[in-house]
Amino acid sequence: MLAAVVSRRAAPSFWMFFARLLRSGSQPRSNGSLRMETGRRRGVAKVIGNLLALPKRELKHSGHHFLQIPGPTNVPDRVLRALDRPVIDHRGPEFGRLAREVLDGLRTVFQTTSPVVMYPASGTGAWEAAIVNTLSPGDRVLMFETGHFSQLWRKVAERFGIQVEYVPGNWRTGAQPAEVEKRLDSDKQHAFKAVMVVHNETSTGVASRIAEIRASMNRALHPALLIVDTISSLASMDYRHDEWEVDVTVAGSQKGLMLPPGLSFNAISEKALSASESARLPRSYWDWRDMLGSNKAGFFPFTPATNLIYGLREALAMLQEEGLANVFRRHDRHARATRAAVQTWGLEIVCQDPREYSSSLTGVYLPRGHDADRLRSIILDNFNMSLGAGLSNLAGKVFRIGHLGSFNDLMLAGTLSGVEMGLRLAGVPHRDGGVTAALECLAPPTEEKGASVSKEN
Ligand SMILES: Cc1ncc(COP(=O)(O)O)c(C=O)c1O
Repeated sequence: MLAAVVSRRAAPSFWMFFARLLRSGSQPRSNGSLRMETGRRRGVAKVIGNLLALPKRELKHSGHHFLQIPGPTNVPDRVLRALDRPVIDHRGPEFGRLAREVLDGLRTVFQTTSPVVMYPASGTGAWEAAIVNTLSPGDRVLMFETGHFSQLWRKVAERFGIQVEYVPGNWRTGAQPAEVEKRLDSDKQHAFKAVMVVHNETSTGVASRIAEIRASMNRALHPALLIVDTISSLASMDYRHDEWEVDVTVAGSQKGLMLPPGLSFNAISEKALSASESARLPRSYWDWRDMLGSNKAGFFPFTPATNLIYGLREALAMLQEEGLANVFRRHDRHARATRAAVQTWGLEIVCQDPREYSSSLTGVYLPRGHDADRLRSIILDNFNMSLGAGLSNLAGKVFRIGHLGSFNDLMLAGTLSGVEMGLRLAGVPHRDGGVTAALECLAPPTEEKGASVSKEN
């Protein structure tokens, strides 16, 4: 066979010659003299064309893929093993015990004593659940344009006939507590039924200051519910459902909780629960009342995601073993080291206000004229690492480094090395030394106190 005799590697010029020949044969020449539209010619062209169209041999990578998108995140082996169990009767006693244990354990992560419900759904489902359980058609809510996910959540609310006052933003800052206070202060009729905020805007790496937003609401003496999306912050960044008087916290399984996608959550305050009694949006699948009724005995009003719940039990055990405060410290530290790298490279971080830096991810601008998607694809091809894409307004301009979930110093060092090598290969102008700056952050040189090296060493 021709392809076997002339390998692509050995004779690229041979293949280029054939490609040119083919192209010349398949396009009409202006003088028409070289056009041979015979069936035989077309047959030969097709065979050679098929050979040339063979996909470039896929680069096979050894070792682990680096999944450094800001969720879904790497699932630890312990959780994977916990998922790998026979499905059990979801109405039997073993499942009842499992669900009660997990529903109880979840409260620690939300830092609440209120009930937490879970749905076999992605985060979008839990967004919808928060809306349909608390609001009525025509209700007004206050939302902030923090990025792609605030836009999507707004769309969900509007589809249910909610009137959204959407405060415009530049995708580089979070919801402003002062703006919350101003808008609520001037709402003397208490028309706003809820303030809805994305805590950690995954499209930008900007975290809104929920405690300050709550303080603003209290200063305005406004009764609106506070509904917060923590899909990319729960179990990664400090978040306190009770202390910050949040009424509904929305979360998902696939980020800080280190699980595959497929579970999502609402933590529900007493105030939200009583609002749900009079809320008039249609609801069935998402109805908290059915869920809370069944959950008392560890059951669900429908078939739960049995094996994900096994995984969740393991993930909760891991978070408890590490200690929630240490989990937050680890994420803060990795975010700091990442920023040190980005700043040393001379690239711009999307988040403008250091008080709003996300500890789950860092959004990075490429210099004008350089395509972030091209950089990401070079990194994927060469180093087998996935980075987050710029979403909607930021497409092609920004890439996102996820540093949340099951993650450690060496994984971060590998991640940043992949980015630095990618910047070189892609010809993106930058300064060297980003990885070194990050390593110095992770392992600052210790002061030598005149200690001499032991002779035994
Ligand atoms: C902050 C935030 N909210 C909502 C969503 C939507 O969640 P899902 O894609 O799981 O439906 C995401 C997804 O990444 C997110 O990051």
